[in-house]
Amino acid sequence: MTSGFQNKLGQGGFGTVYKGKLRNGHMVAVKMCNVSKANGQDFINEVATIGRIHHANVVRLIGFCVEGSKWALLYDFMPNGSLDKFVFLDQERSTLLSWDRLYKIALGVGRGIEYLHQGCDMQILHFDIKPHNILLDQNFNPKVSDFGLAKLYSTDKNTVTFTIARGTLGYIAPELFYQNIGGVSYKADVYSFGMLLLEMVGRRRNVKVHAEHSSQIYFSSWIYDKFHQEKDVEVRDATEDEKRLIKKMVIVALWCIQMKPTDRPSMSKALEMLEGDVELLAMPLKPTVHPMEISDEDRMSIPIGVPISSRNGMDAVALDGS
Ligand SMILES: Nc1ncnc2c1ncn2[C@@H]1O[C@H](COP(=O)(O)OP(=O)(O)O)[C@@H](O)[C@H]1O
Ligand SMILES: [Mg+2]
Repeated sequence: MTSGFQNKLGQGGFGTVYKGKLRNGHMVAVKMCNVSKANGQDFINEVATIGRIHHANVVRLIGFCVEGSKWALLYDFMPNGSLDKFVFLDQERSTLLSWDRLYKIALGVGRGIEYLHQGCDMQILHFDIKPHNILLDQNFNPKVSDFGLAKLYSTDKNTVTFTIARGTLGYIAPELFYQNIGGVSYKADVYSFGMLLLEMVGRRRNVKVHAEHSSQIYFSSWIYDKFHQEKDVEVRDATEDEKRLIKKMVIVALWCIQMKPTDRPSMSKALEMLEGDVELLAMPLKPTVHPMEISDEDRMSIPIGVPISSRNGMDAVALDGS
């Protein structure tokens, strides 16, 4: 089915993904994982979460098999791979996507997350939204993928109990580190979506430790200041229409990455702003950069089950009542 596992598509936090073909000719991506007791729950999670949902902007799980400790999850194959290849131009194989395409991708990702938050009978929080986990089909329609860290909640809860902060540095919301910011909720995904939007606009990583000018290290502060002073965006070769799209993406991103969850919009509100008229958008407060973001330039995924704080030499934080 996978031609002897020769065709590797990617490697993530807890699995290797291969390209395969079903007997009926359907192309699939097979995520192979060695499931131990420690991460077994992640797999059950992924299957339980994504197996029951259907949305144009969420990757479709088409099956799974278990053989001893080896688990395989089968997904529709996404010929254009993950979004990071198109956003981080320092990577191999990177091709420029048009602004219109990037804007449509942003809307699609937003709709996928909105569906997870509000469109199912349970609320699904993803907790690992980042370019690597957004897949693109043959028409560049985005699909939210990788539900390894996702959690299901009944829809009547406002905040959720969270014991260990997991996710990827640079995208993870500050309330997952610090207790005094607010409870953990769907607003954590909104934050990650904001970081993703900014990276799409900047076509660069938001935290760039080796930037030439210190002002460019924190892209969010830098772009905020630029906006505030000039009330406009400077983008080489962009048409007036494209500039409007870019400006909308930046303002919505800045709203989404507000430090306090209560200052961030819901996914539906963020979409409304993205789809609406740019002139109607107000500027948010300048987002504060939280100190965690500089501590890991490589933005490695946090290993399963390891409290994020222990990697950064901080005391473990118990979040939200646990
Ligand atoms: N359905 C798919 N089609 C094409 N490539 C895929 C598919 N699923 C995953 N990949 C590639 O494999 C990488 C890792 O997959 P992911 O599900 O995110 O695993 P992990 O949980 O290990 O991060 C992705 O970033 C992507 O590049
Ligand atoms: Mg991943």
